[in-house]
Amino acid sequence: MSAELAVDVKNLSVVFDTFYAVRNISFSVRRGEIFGFLGANGAGKTTTIRVLCGLLPPSSGEVTVAGIGFAKGEMAIKTKVGYMSQKFTLYEDLSIEENLSFIASLRKIDHKTYLRRRDKILHFIAFNLPLNSLVKNISGGIKQQVALAASILHDPDIVFLDEPTAGVTPAARARFWALIRQLADEKKTIFVTTHYMDEAEQCERVALMRSGEIIALDTPSHLKTQVFPHGVYELDPHNKTHNSKLLELRKHPALDFFEPYGLRFHATFKDNAAGQKLQEELGQSFALHKITPTLEDVFIRLVEGTQS
Ligand SMILES: Nc1ncnc2c1ncn2[C@@H]1O[C@H](COP(=O)(O)OP(=O)(O)O)[C@@H](O)[C@H]1O
Ligand SMILES: [Mg+2]
Repeated sequence: MSAELAVDVKNLSVVFDTFYAVRNISFSVRRGEIFGFLGANGAGKTTTIRVLCGLLPPSSGEVTVAGIGFAKGEMAIKTKVGYMSQKFTLYEDLSIEENLSFIASLRKIDHKTYLRRRDKILHFIAFNLPLNSLVKNISGGIKQQVALAASILHDPDIVFLDEPTAGVTPAARARFWALIRQLADEKKTIFVTTHYMDEAEQCERVALMRSGEIIALDTPSHLKTQVFPHGVYELDPHNKTHNSKLLELRKHPALDFFEPYGLRFHATFKDNAAGQKLQEELGQSFALHKITPTLEDVFIRLVEGTQS
């Protein structure tokens, strides 16, 4: 494996009983990259991460993380990676400081090193709450920041963040992403799962998972041009009160793609006379203009598997 790769996965499958949670996926992540993992619930994202963190053995395939192949044993990998699990892992009845020092003791970090790293991380994330605050008394966004701090106390090269911003406010999400970018600037590799398309846009590359398989993997802009080579039309209805009826348009044979987008719609037309005609007709009820597709458009089209 090239020294430039933080993660290298070849033909990985994870089978529970007879169920393939992950089916024959291959991909790699460069050192220092912000790599996004998208997909509906149950797609296999968390299962993949658990394998990459050495928490779950692969059923088949080869996995190399931070230069360590899993044949060498799982424990070695745990010191090289940080893992912020999708499940909330802080102790509510302990203070921020107690949570962090507990993690440090599990990680066998000596006290002096712990204090130095803790203060560096907290300074780095501009954390300004008293460390004796009980976790149960802090907001969801702050908890996520503390959980991030906990996952990087041992100074890992690669950080796996599994839905780190689920259920927090937009402002807290933005702050969290500023931290992710800072970590990447420090040459940490970030592997992050999210359901938020604005977050996916901030990844250098994203992989889209469906039913255990990776169905697309590229930069956000390449995904858009590959999936929608002719762009997308945005339709802004002159009359915004009858949108529910408009959804029936979806079935129109001259349309390739038609999805609500707030009060507007995103559409592509068949490249034929019928498509042209419909486009002209719709021009009477909508302001029509061509736009760059969003990742949400890409996601809907690929995941619904209508066409690609
Ligand atoms: N330990 C397990 N035993 C059996 N099935 C599992 C186990 N862990 C996950 N699964 C199943 O594998 C699939 C993928 O789950 P998961 O990786 O958690 O998806 P995601 O993180 O994308 O939501 C789901 O159908 C889930 O129910
Ligand atoms: Mg998950």
